[in-house]
Amino acid sequence: MAKKEVSTEQRVEQLKALLPEAFSEGTLNFERLASTLGMDFSAPSHESYGLQWVGKQEAQNTAKTPSTTVLHTTDGVEETPPSDKDILIEGDNLEALKILSDTHAGKVDVIYIDPPYNTGQDFVYLDNFRESPSSYLKQLDHRHHKQEQARQLEGRYHSRWLSMMYPRLSLARDLLSEKGVLFCSIDDHECHNLRHLLDEIFGSQHFVGMLIWERKRKGSHLSKQLTKKTEYIFVYAKQSKGLKLYGEPASAQETQPLVKKISNEGTLRFPKESVRTRLKDQSLAPGVYGKGNSQVELLEETSIKDGGFTEDIVLRGRFIWTQERVDLEVSRGGHFTMHTKRLQPRVLKSEASRGFKALSTLLLKEVGTNEDATEEVAERLGLPVDSHLIGYPKPLGLIETLLRAATYWKKDAVVLDFFAGTGTTGEAIWSLNQEDGGTRRFILVQWPEETGDEIYPTISSLTAARLRIVAQRYDKGDEDVERYILCTRE
Ligand SMILES: C[S@@+](CC[C@H](N)C(=O)[O-])C[C@H]1O[C@@H](n2cnc3c(N)ncnc32)[C@H](O)[C@@H]1O
Repeated sequence: MAKKEVSTEQRVEQLKALLPEAFSEGTLNFERLASTLGMDFSAPSHESYGLQWVGKQEAQNTAKTPSTTVLHTTDGVEETPPSDKDILIEGDNLEALKILSDTHAGKVDVIYIDPPYNTGQDFVYLDNFRESPSSYLKQLDHRHHKQEQARQLEGRYHSRWLSMMYPRLSLARDLLSEKGVLFCSIDDHECHNLRHLLDEIFGSQHFVGMLIWERKRKGSHLSKQLTKKTEYIFVYAKQSKGLKLYGEPASAQETQPLVKKISNEGTLRFPKESVRTRLKDQSLAPGVYGKGNSQVELLEETSIKDGGFTEDIVLRGRFIWTQERVDLEVSRGGHFTMHTKRLQPRVLKSEASRGFKALSTLLLKEVGTNEDATEEVAERLGLPVDSHLIGYPKPLGLIETLLRAATYWKKDAVVLDFFAGTGTTGEAIWSLNQEDGGTRRFILVQWPEETGDEIYPTISSLTAARLRIVAQRYDKGDEDVERYILCTRE
């Protein structure tokens, strides 16, 4: 009986059923196959670790080609943007970044971006960078074996998005100051690629961390696998060493002991008004109080009346602080406690000395959710909350948290957002300045993508409108935002 012919496809299916772990996104991965079988796989020597995609070289070149555009004011006058104003640029951010590299290289302190996530959905703005198979294959070397082409074809889902992001992130890094920091929002679709890409552009040693933001209060009931309630924000620095990101003040309730058995002996004088006690009224004679290594010696008589000391308290003991440090703390409004007869001094630091807790990697729904953001934008623009114009903006509280963290010690920071959308970053800057008297400035870039709406015909007109409407809330006026349009060079 003749043997039944088995096609290659059928064999691949058989192999897939037998060794599913040897396949990556549907295609046989020789390295995995070898490791599954416990065999060595030696890759050809030209291969190396790193992110590759079709079009990478072209994307790298794109970052280097000079801009073909200039900036026009809304009156049509060609102008270089001023360095002391808030700026909104309407046009493609690639060209805008090139123009900014002439005026702002090394001068931007913080970049926040929220690029399209490549979800494949059709928002008002383009969020689908997946190429058609035929167009993608045209770019591949036709000498490649069919299977190799099939393997590479997988990459079409990500290649265009990576090619869009690469030159923009590369130009953005050059705009950052030496202490500059970048925040980039993303979700599961491109998170893995974005981390590789940012590692390549910033250097993996400048990866600061990945924040998780709780973007929804409730998950979808439709999902039978995972209730997705979070997305991510990558943080990269131009120089990660020395970077500080403010989260919140250190706890105001916690006291710290001043006696430590390994410290050298010394004498400290505590001004009577700076010490709180729960001891009842009594006189305290000079002598040793407490036991063992933590004992202290009271050198001068003092007494307690109506819950306070009547004389300064002079103690000898193993203290971790010097008299200068005690005096400084008193001048800053800090307090000490001696609540028991062991007379162990503890310090309740002033706000100035307390320090801070760094930004948490977990940003809970309290900073605002997608729903909050949609309501915020709708309220400002007078649109219904289910308006298709809004897409997925970010809540004000989230952006404020990130920008507060990065500009807490630089309240005159220049902040750039080149996927500005509804302009949340602009409003967050004004809100932070109002909160702490800062003079931060923003540069927003937004493509004038058509919306089909009569009142807000483009997304950038919506960005401008939001800024105009909220300006009064922050004591700003129309003249505070310089609006520019990117035009092709004549
Ligand atoms: C996810 S939205 C940003 C939302 C924003 N964070 C907010 O809170 O409203 C991404 C934005 O980037 C814009 N965009 C996409 N490609 C662009 C490009 N090449 N140049 C300028 N803007 C672009 C889109 O039009 C969209 O408004």
